[in-house]
Amino acid sequence: MGQPLTEAQAAPASAPYKAFEVAPLAGALGAEISGVDLATLRDDVVWKEILRAFVEYSVLVFPGQKLEAADIMAVGSRFGPPSYYPFVVGMPEFPYIFEIIKEASETRNFGGAWHSDSSYLPSPPLGTLLYALETPSHGGDTLFTSTYAAYDALSEGMKKLVDPLVGVFSAELKYGGGRTHMHKSIGAMEIHDTDKAAEIGAEHPLVRTHLVSGRKALYLSRSHTVSIKGMSEEESKPILEYLIAHQVKPEFTCRVRWAPGTLTVWDNRCTQHNAVNDYHGQRRRMRRLTVGAQRPG
Ligand code: OGA
Ligand code: MN
Repeated sequence: MGQPLTEAQAAPASAPYKAFEVAPLAGALGAEISGVDLATLRDDVVWKEILRAFVEYSVLVFPGQKLEAADIMAVGSRFGPPSYYPFVVGMPEFPYIFEIIKEASETRNFGGAWHSDSSYLPSPPLGTLLYALETPSHGGDTLFTSTYAAYDALSEGMKKLVDPLVGVFSAELKYGGGRTHMHKSIGAMEIHDTDKAAEIGAEHPLVRTHLVSGRKALYLSRSHTVSIKGMSEEESKPILEYLIAHQVKPEFTCRVRWAPGTLTVWDNRCTQHNAVNDYHGQRRRMRRLTVGAQRPG
């Protein structure tokens, strides 16, 4: 493989894509990419176009791939170095990859609330790769929302209010009854260290600027944002709740439907996602890798 490209080397948006087909999923974000075989793709020029599409669409869906764990690592390295997830045991030979499994007998799912991955870390991963191995016959889609579009749609007055705010983030899943409680019933996954979740936290701007696009995006969720710095939880709540409800308006979202072999890569800096839990009685199994730890600014 050639040298990994940094996103900064990607060409500016607007030029057409030559190496593959791009079918946008919705108005605000998301595109399906066809005509590339990621397991064998070594062409740096094509990778540069993929990274350009990543910045333009925030969520890229590649159906029909055939990826072993080592291939997922190789694809991930094009977006950034692997990033470790603190609460689920990884695959024995690939500790950065873990499986998200919901058995037919289970009712709770992983990721079933709006969030951006590990936003409670001081340097959260810029991207997540999720690869489908087994999917229900229908249901089990993942929703995404563009927090660029959500920010852009705020009034000038509201932008002025939220621009300087800093959020207090915690891994505790405080408003979900605690991480130990939330995770204990996802029986098919090897969860650990949830008792340490309350010790993991960070402060991040509620409006972050994307390093490559230069665009501003909202950055908060009910899962991970506890309060606004300098305000009580009671004072913070109405502002946070307004933004949390606002940022998932239908016109900011897209929906990814999975089949075995679909790889989706999303940009955690300018999106939130939510795994729809509507397929009880059927098994769903995915592999997940996060990449590119980056301090929000
Ligand atoms: C994740 C996640 C969503 C899904 O991998 O971070 O939230 O659809 N998963 O499984
Ligand atoms: Mn997630």
